[in-house]
Amino acid sequence: MAQIFDRSSNALARMSLVLTGLIVIALGVTLDQLQRSPWVTRQGQRADQPVPFSHKHHVQGLGLQCQYCHTTVEKSSYAGIPPTKTCMNCHAQIWTNARLLEPVRQSWATGKSINWTRVHDLPDFAYFNHEIHVNKGMGCSTCHGRVDQMPLMYAQNTLQMEWCLDCHRNPGKNIRPTSQIYNMAWEKPSSDRPVWCSVKDGAANLPTAQSVDCTTKDPSESGPQVALLQTSAEKGMAGDVASAVPVPASYQKFESQDQLGKFLVHQYKIRTVRDLTSCEVCHR
Ligand code: HEC
Ligand code: HEC
Ligand code: HEC
Ligand code: HEC
Ligand code: HEC
Repeated sequence: MAQIFDRSSNALARMSLVLTGLIVIALGVTLDQLQRSPWVTRQGQRADQPVPFSHKHHVQGLGLQCQYCHTTVEKSSYAGIPPTKTCMNCHAQIWTNARLLEPVRQSWATGKSINWTRVHDLPDFAYFNHEIHVNKGMGCSTCHGRVDQMPLMYAQNTLQMEWCLDCHRNPGKNIRPTSQIYNMAWEKPSSDRPVWCSVKDGAANLPTAQSVDCTTKDPSESGPQVALLQTSAEKGMAGDVASAVPVPASYQKFESQDQLGKFLVHQYKIRTVRDLTSCEVCHR
């Protein structure tokens, strides 16, 4: 039979197959990159706001606590955006003529709330809840970054599924004492900066978040109860007298996030990785 295709077309066919393959892969990689790029996730971008509200000024400068404005962050799924009234607590008196604040005064006069542009906004099919994260030792700065240093708000993280899962697979690497969740400058413990924790009496009956006491100051140097015990021991009154002295809380010292993480994950009764990564947790 006569050859319809000569030899070179064979090579050509193979070539175009390879080329098509390459193009498909390249397209896939590009789309994937695009899907994760800040352009899509809006990570790091400053949104246009009706008022250029500065967290840096109000938090770092004036020392306002997050809860002053985000009142429901510990007890609801939403942290909440403050009503105009919260701003007017101060701005009825200060900066009353500033042009920047005109939309705030407008809103106050008309009763129409300020139209803030959302910076973090998960799709509806993903469930998130502030209350549980905050009460299980996840600090604001872990997810939102150094808000106290932001003249304008932006998203520090992508909020994509992969980001959520990265923590859900190992919450121990990010957990901190619940007393420190608002601390923007919190750093993981190290041998230079240890953390001491003790389990409170009757911990089993307390809400998890209150079951543990942690401090970054050596409790054997500052705790009055520990000091008391030392004095009685020095005076040689250990035995029966010591038992009349209140039992000092026994503090454990942690010099790495690894150690502290294991301890707090246990004390705060964090669920297993299997539970935390199952689809139903976030897609209900
Ligand atoms: C004086 C009130 C006030 C205080 C105090 C305050 N915030 Fe805010 N926060 C706002 C306002 C108003 C917005 C909306 C405008 C914006 O995004 O900048 C906002 C927005 C945010 C957002 C983004 C919301 C979104 O649209 O996704 C985060 C995250 C946030 N604040 C975290 C914090 C943290 C963490 C603290 C404490 C360190 C804090 N805020 C303290 C008033 C405040
Ligand atoms: C506890 C008092 C207080 C509250 C509450 C407060 N502010 Fe302010 N704000 C100030 C002070 C004081 C300044 C002047 C800061 C400076 O110049 O150092 C200021 C400045 C500003 C400015 C000028 C730009 C800047 O950041 O310096 C804007 C805009 C502003 N505030 C918006 C708001 C909005 C919006 C709210 C409500 C979400 C709010 N403020 C709540 C005290 C407050
Ligand atoms: C585990 C990560 C995580 C922690 C910890 C966290 N946030 Fe958020 N925050 C988010 C996510 C995710 C969203 C977007 C939620 C959505 O779109 O439904 C968000 C949204 C917000 C918003 C916008 C309004 C709202 O309620 O959706 C504010 C304000 C806010 N966070 C403040 C805080 C403050 C203050 C803290 C610390 C007390 C904090 N967050 C701790 C992840 C976190
Ligand atoms: C920095 C760590 C961290 C990040 C980031 C994080 N989580 Fe979590 N998440 C936790 C911890 C810890 C718990 C509590 C586990 C427990 O109590 O067993 C939790 C619990 C949850 C729960 C369970 C709530 C309930 O009531 O059962 C949901 C839902 C959830 N996270 C959704 C998300 C979503 C969605 C994201 C990403 C947008 C996210 N989380 C990011 C650490 C994190
Ligand atoms: C810790 C919370 C969490 C868990 C667990 C989780 N997801 Fe998601 N998922 C999210 C969030 C948040 C988004 C939205 C991400 C975004 O905005 O791009 C998402 C998005 C998705 C999407 C949309 C496509 C995409 O990637 O954006 C699919 C499909 C999905 N998840 C499937 C699953 C399946 C299947 C599981 C179980 C194996 C699962 N998810 C477990 C948080 C979670």
